[in-house]
Amino acid sequence: GSTRRYNFEIKLQKVNRLCQEKSIVTVNGQFPGPQITAVEGDRLIITVINHVEYNVTIHWHGIRQVRSAWADGTAYITQCPIQTGQKFVYDFSTEGHTGTLFWHAHITWLRVTLYGPLIILPKKNVPYPFPKPYGEVPILLGEWWKSDTEASLAHVLHTGGGPEVSDAFTINGLPGISNACSDKDAYKLRVEPGKTYLLRLINGALNSDFFFGIANHTLTVVEADAVYTKQFETDIIVISPGQTTNVLLKTKQYYPNASFLIVAKPHPFGRVEFNGNSTAGILQYGQPKSTLPLLSPEMPDYFDYDYANNYCSKLRSLSEVKVAKKVDKYYFFTVGLGVNECPEDQTCQGLLGGKMAGPINNVTFLHPKTALLEAHYSNKSEGVYTTDFPENPPFEFNYTGNPPSNISMATRETRLVELAYGTSVQVVIQGTSVVTPETHPFHLHGFDFYVVGRGLGNFDPIKDTPMFNLVDPSKRNTVNMAPGGWVAIRFVADNPGVWLMHCHLEIHSSWGMEMAWVVRDGERQDQKLPPPPLDLPKC
Ligand code: C2O
Ligand code: CU
Repeated sequence: GSTRRYNFEIKLQKVNRLCQEKSIVTVNGQFPGPQITAVEGDRLIITVINHVEYNVTIHWHGIRQVRSAWADGTAYITQCPIQTGQKFVYDFSTEGHTGTLFWHAHITWLRVTLYGPLIILPKKNVPYPFPKPYGEVPILLGEWWKSDTEASLAHVLHTGGGPEVSDAFTINGLPGISNACSDKDAYKLRVEPGKTYLLRLINGALNSDFFFGIANHTLTVVEADAVYTKQFETDIIVISPGQTTNVLLKTKQYYPNASFLIVAKPHPFGRVEFNGNSTAGILQYGQPKSTLPLLSPEMPDYFDYDYANNYCSKLRSLSEVKVAKKVDKYYFFTVGLGVNECPEDQTCQGLLGGKMAGPINNVTFLHPKTALLEAHYSNKSEGVYTTDFPENPPFEFNYTGNPPSNISMATRETRLVELAYGTSVQVVIQGTSVVTPETHPFHLHGFDFYVVGRGLGNFDPIKDTPMFNLVDPSKRNTVNMAPGGWVAIRFVADNPGVWLMHCHLEIHSSWGMEMAWVVRDGERQDQKLPPPPLDLPKC
């Protein structure tokens, strides 16, 4: 492969959305951020220079960073943040990846405007498992906030209450149709009749799943999280924050000058309504004739999690895969809402007078003051983290029944799981109905995993394990479960480093719905984590 270099200057840029000018944090003044394009095997060298007042890191979401954990870009996990005026060079390989991924800030809520596509094309002479499309188009779904999201986050964490919500959803950075103040600058996709386009969908939103569809057109799903899938047709796809999906769009022969709405409709995959407004762009054949009415696709209901659950069950690996039958370590994680102790000098708005929290096995993740990976690498974990993250919840309850009243305060600690190199791991992620059942798109750094099972209600190891799909499960980096449901994932810990696993809803991860795996070096030289780069920022 060759080496591709990019410069990411983090700077403020004034942009106009929803009839208001706002100064936002951008890469190179662009919003959404610049696209990185590579061919599988290329080395990427990306220099990030921070010109803003905030601390920054950039994460290459979905890149496994095999033996390059230092480049993962997770603040306080693999690196200290890049402070104002500093720079850091991310240097990593794209070997083993093809497809649509994205990059985003991985600190506080800066990813609201700091995100962009990361596209890895197959190696020369390696075809797609479908005819070469006529055009390829990235479609980034996101959120627009009129307020300052850094301030909102600080406010939420201080009051310990519920989140504020965005003012609009966006397609390629544009709020588009649904809002009088953005109708005119809706995203437009110009197409020619009778062609096939590859749409590369990325959900970069902070806190919302989406239904996505185009009026009068069927989509063929071909890839999810940069792994090819068995192809299937659908009018509406479901995509959670942190997920990517490639679909083929076949344009018709008989629509000269017609336009159709491209709709992203928020779907809470839970039972609480947030910002329920859809956003829309326009699929435009030929020359626009403004007199034609715009057709809208038929979308599932806001709360239609049966549709969403069904959709997720259709995702399968393209070919048969070998999922390790042997599991060395079993974990059962309850994830849901919960509560942390309220600091003495605050009044909090959560249950029991505490702070709203997002515990995993009743532990909420406390970010350390220094990078975990450095502490691990230099054998200085003492006082930074412990390796006793609970393998099971502290007590059993009817996880998905009526919200239990006997919930207890979750602790806030930096507890990790330590794994020997090569450990085969199964994690069942069990959603709970504490407070209310909600969605949790769980993302794992450093690995792709197989989604071997999913279901509603409480996971039952005796009944559910024999039903696992070890033949053609989907392989991805972010998986969602229905509210009041569970998913089972498997991966082999063959990548040394410290790897975050967390809910990709920013509000949940800010509430501590995170944990991390320490994967030790293997015996062989090529199973060891190399030393840190010399320019690694200091805390
Ligand atoms: Cu998309 Cu931990 O990140
Ligand atoms: Cu969550």
